[in-house]
Amino acid sequence: MPKHFTQNDFLLSETAVLPGNEVLELQAEAPSNIALVKYWGKKSGGVQLPMNASLSFTLSRSKTQTRARLTPLEKPAGQVSFDVRLDSRPRPDFAPKMARFFERITPYAPYIHFYRWEIDSHNSFPHGSGIASSASGFAAMARLVMQLGEQLGLACNGDFCVAKTSFLARLGSGSAARSVAEPVMLWGRDDNFPESSDLYAVRPAFDLHPSFDDVRDTIVLIDRGVKPVSSTRGHELIHQHPFRKARLETARKNLLALAGALQTGDWEAFGRVLEAEALMLHALMATSNPPYILMQPETLRLIRDLQDWRNRTGRPVYFTLDAGANVHLLYPAAEHQAVLDLLKNTLPELYAANQYIPDKVKSGID
Ligand code: DP6
Repeated sequence: MPKHFTQNDFLLSETAVLPGNEVLELQAEAPSNIALVKYWGKKSGGVQLPMNASLSFTLSRSKTQTRARLTPLEKPAGQVSFDVRLDSRPRPDFAPKMARFFERITPYAPYIHFYRWEIDSHNSFPHGSGIASSASGFAAMARLVMQLGEQLGLACNGDFCVAKTSFLARLGSGSAARSVAEPVMLWGRDDNFPESSDLYAVRPAFDLHPSFDDVRDTIVLIDRGVKPVSSTRGHELIHQHPFRKARLETARKNLLALAGALQTGDWEAFGRVLEAEALMLHALMATSNPPYILMQPETLRLIRDLQDWRNRTGRPVYFTLDAGANVHLLYPAAEHQAVLDLLKNTLPELYAANQYIPDKVKSGID
């Protein structure tokens, strides 16, 4: 039986750590991730617990780097005192989510209250590119909080450390739970995967087939605007959704099939499930109450062209979408030039303007 941590394992008493009296400068970075099986919907009655288990690839180029200057307070504040910047510019619009994160993690890291936090984040991907920064952003924050604990003398080792970082990140944003290790992460309890947990993400117990050793993800940046409906709202809408039950059953089947394909090296089966997941996510949005569409005409053009091209050439290149219009193209490294040629033909203006990120799945040696 794999070792599971409970919520209590992560609790920390207020007296477990004594405040330091020096100003601390910490920095941490965390990668973004792309879900292969999507997290869509939270369990009612819990805090940030997923309705279904999700599986993701961790990315190597798209990441968030965060610095924090921590000034000791005379008296710990009831609420964490902080300000938050992106690329040195104040972002008061980030404050509510950050305040909620600090509040939720307090029982597990009460020492955050000893300091005033000046947080400055930088994303490697272009701002407003539609790439969710909440996954890498909250994973970087969780790493900072863990680092602070270590500086104050809390030892943290191995699996416990990764699990607690993921647990804290999850309380900021669900998908952030998966941004704490690589190359594949599993978050959410599913009995087919005894190592899995709703509380934190884990590396699944199976090994990836060598044909998944060097996977590329070219992220095609189709829409730079702000999403009309947030993922957080999307997660809420699933509760009254007419297809809720079908979604749960399908996610479970898809997870099993995808895990199988990753182990056997079956790119075709991998692609079939990957694309079915992406289209189901967007179909759920289109059939929510109220319904909404996040794809753009270019999203569909690229998907249709990719599928035609694949039927003609047999190349193992497949798409997925997150909650937005951008398209992620996943393929083995050998297909890279062919993918750029496809992009150039299908969306020439976007290609000429460099509106894509040639990312790759992060492996332990990156
Ligand atoms: C479609 O993690 O952004 O990208 O937990 O409310 O912060 P919150 O939501 P978030 O949802 C991500 C949804 C998704 C699928 C996925 O990443 O699994």
